[in-house]
Amino acid sequence: MTGGKEEKRERVREIASEHYQRGDVLGWFEALYKEAAGDNEVIPWADLEPNRYFRRWVEEHGLKGNGERALVVGCGLGDDAAYLDDLGFDVTAFDISPTAIEWAKKLHADRKIKFEVMDLFEPFRGWTCGQAGSLRSGGFDFVLEIYTIQPLPIEMRQKTMDAIAAFVAPGGRLVVVTRGRGDDEEVDELPWPISRRELAWFQDAGLEEKSFVVYPSDEDDEPERFVVEYSRPAN
Ligand SMILES: C[S@@+](CC[C@H](N)C(=O)[O-])C[C@H]1O[C@@H](n2cnc3c(N)ncnc32)[C@H](O)[C@@H]1O
Repeated sequence: MTGGKEEKRERVREIASEHYQRGDVLGWFEALYKEAAGDNEVIPWADLEPNRYFRRWVEEHGLKGNGERALVVGCGLGDDAAYLDDLGFDVTAFDISPTAIEWAKKLHADRKIKFEVMDLFEPFRGWTCGQAGSLRSGGFDFVLEIYTIQPLPIEMRQKTMDAIAAFVAPGGRLVVVTRGRGDDEEVDELPWPISRRELAWFQDAGLEEKSFVVYPSDEDDEPERFVVEYSRPAN
């Protein structure tokens, strides 16, 4: 596909809006991956390499997997999952789009990553843990979420964060990478950046904020990125 990032994002907004008008807020991801028909250039976020801001954060924080169980939320084509695999995690990654997961499996066929089709609002049994203090167990040692919250409707934001927080096991960690905005800054078009005030919902969901890093965007006219690390207290 030829055309710049903005042109691609415009097509994404068109597909999303067609689905929204039918009351379907999640179906457009599969429609977009299908329309791409194997051409990653059609998908604005699919650049076949790990997220640059996450990689910078990893290098600055010296993150290592040491065989811990990691989960990648909304993994798309799986490049961040492959990066966690390189860092030594035992990686599971999921996405709601069957086409994305099939594509990711082909791209990373030489790796042991477990790719699954799953809606984060309907998690598999054993993938989540209860709130702090609950007797339920499950969850992952390390959870990575990059750009999955921001394209979902703002009205669903707290529910989305609750669902993601539930994947973090007692003593486990979550890292979130997102476009950021000021608390009182209005949002206009998709993808809708996240404010610090909204991110505090992760704390309401039982997590503790460990670090909050702001990186300037490396593209013109793009918001800065927040990379935030949380942990769930051990039982
Ligand atoms: C903006 S893309 C980001 C993909 C990837 N994290 C990246 O940074 O390249 C958001 C991803 O979340 C997936 N997604 C959206 N809603 C989801 C849901 N309810 N459950 C699981 N995945 C979802 C989409 O299919 C899409 O691949």
